[in-house]
Amino acid sequence: MITNLLSAGDLDRTDAIRILDTAEELLGVASRPIKKLPTLRGRTVVNLFFEDSTRTRISFEAAAKRLSADVINFSAKGSSVSKGESLKDTALTLQAMGADAVIIRHHSSGAPHRLAQAKWTKGAVINAGDGTHEHPTQALLDAFTMRRHLGAVGGDLAGKNVTIVGDVLHSRVVRSNVLLLHTLGAHVTIVAPPTLLPVGIDHWPVETSYDLDASLEKADAVMMLRVQAERMNASYFPSAREYSRRYGLDTARLSRLPDHAIVMHPGPMNRGMEITADVADHVRSVIVEQVTNGVAVRMAVLYLLLGGAAGESAEEEDSTDKDRV
Ligand code: NCD
Repeated sequence: MITNLLSAGDLDRTDAIRILDTAEELLGVASRPIKKLPTLRGRTVVNLFFEDSTRTRISFEAAAKRLSADVINFSAKGSSVSKGESLKDTALTLQAMGADAVIIRHHSSGAPHRLAQAKWTKGAVINAGDGTHEHPTQALLDAFTMRRHLGAVGGDLAGKNVTIVGDVLHSRVVRSNVLLLHTLGAHVTIVAPPTLLPVGIDHWPVETSYDLDASLEKADAVMMLRVQAERMNASYFPSAREYSRRYGLDTARLSRLPDHAIVMHPGPMNRGMEITADVADHVRSVIVEQVTNGVAVRMAVLYLLLGGAAGESAEEEDSTDKDRV
């Protein structure tokens, strides 16, 4: 098993399936009256968030707490980062406080890799979204959700058709999804306006299309991406209305999907832009379930990176110490 989770491309098929199967077991914990396992007791997990987040930060916090870890939440706003403290000094401070895992979200692509490679922290580094680059746990929770709905629990997504639509240029979710879905054998179609496709997309293992209607008919899952206005420094499409008309998912388009197909969105949604409110709340939408599944998947990642054998040997050391006394 890998020691850090920086990119969805770090996971081979065996590792990916192992995380998804572990998450399947851990999902049951959320439905128990007492939602807690002792696995990471005494371990410290730091949520290091330099960029805004609702779901991902809370999800990692819930996951770590359900495994009994101590959680320190750090957000750049209100910290010494606003006084100009660097990533290096922030990380060294957290290291000095004994972080066993650092979950990092940063506006710069590559920040988690820098943290791990420069060894500014001895703990496991988990990428919770770096710039427009990657968001591997989002891809894992998406694959987990697809497996459950498309009858593939225990296996991979071989032969499944996934259509991903929208602001591909600015999306770290799509980059991680393409890598993981490729590893799991799915066929990915990307639909976006030409202005929102990145240079080099011809080297991605995907098909591209500008025609949403045509690609919906064969989709097992359709994933809508948020139009990331905060990362746009130019005009990428004529108007919001024009965007929704060409690339938004509404009920008329929903009816083109096969009966078993699911609608996904990583959140936060721009209701009325990439997805209409009635589609977002439709029975075919699994958007809220993606959030629930995210906790189980992040529990699995923390468990596999930090727990397991390492946790058990720490307990053995404790008892040996006690025996000596
Ligand atoms: C995504 C992100 O932050 O990358 N959201 C998430 O983590 N659930 C997608 C987005 O912001 O559009």
